[in-house]
Amino acid sequence: MERTLILVKPDGVQRGLAGEIIARFERRGLKLIGMKFMQMSQALAEEHYGVHKERPFYNSLVEYITSGPIVAMVWEGKDAIAAARATMGATNPVQAAPGTIRGDFGMEIGRNLVHGSDSQENAVKEVNLFFDAAELVAWNRVTDAWIRE
Ligand code: RTP
Ligand code: MG
Repeated sequence: MERTLILVKPDGVQRGLAGEIIARFERRGLKLIGMKFMQMSQALAEEHYGVHKERPFYNSLVEYITSGPIVAMVWEGKDAIAAARATMGATNPVQAAPGTIRGDFGMEIGRNLVHGSDSQENAVKEVNLFFDAAELVAWNRVTDAWIRE
């Protein structure tokens, strides 16, 4: 079972798309085990996007992600990381397929609405960065037998 950290970025919240974005992961069959509405601090943003520190877009990326509230979530499931990334679409919304979140709602790479962990290693790091263990809920979902054989 994998876990992945998903963020509705500030543009998603400001545009009133948080519910729409959350619904897509929910309908897909991923299971929500943690959620909070928060604004990222400069320190959290620098840690979360530390891998991009040397990239030319780093400063604007940190400014964007800290510019307003976000919805931080942990979704669980078999292959959750790849499934969530497929539901999000390509990083650049112009290249993202219609039907994906970025392909349906985005126009620019710097306003791409949503974040999702990109590997098991990063998912574990990112979930721990945003959530304490006590904030994650283990629960039985009655529909599981209709989502997984
Ligand atoms: P994310 O980490 O936010 O889920 O996005 P991603 O894996 O699809 O893309 P990544 O390469 O990790 O880039 C992180 C975020 O940085 C911004 N970005 N801007 N201007 C640019 O060329 C550029 N490249 C990346 C995007 O907001 C991207 O989501
Ligand atoms: Mg990434």
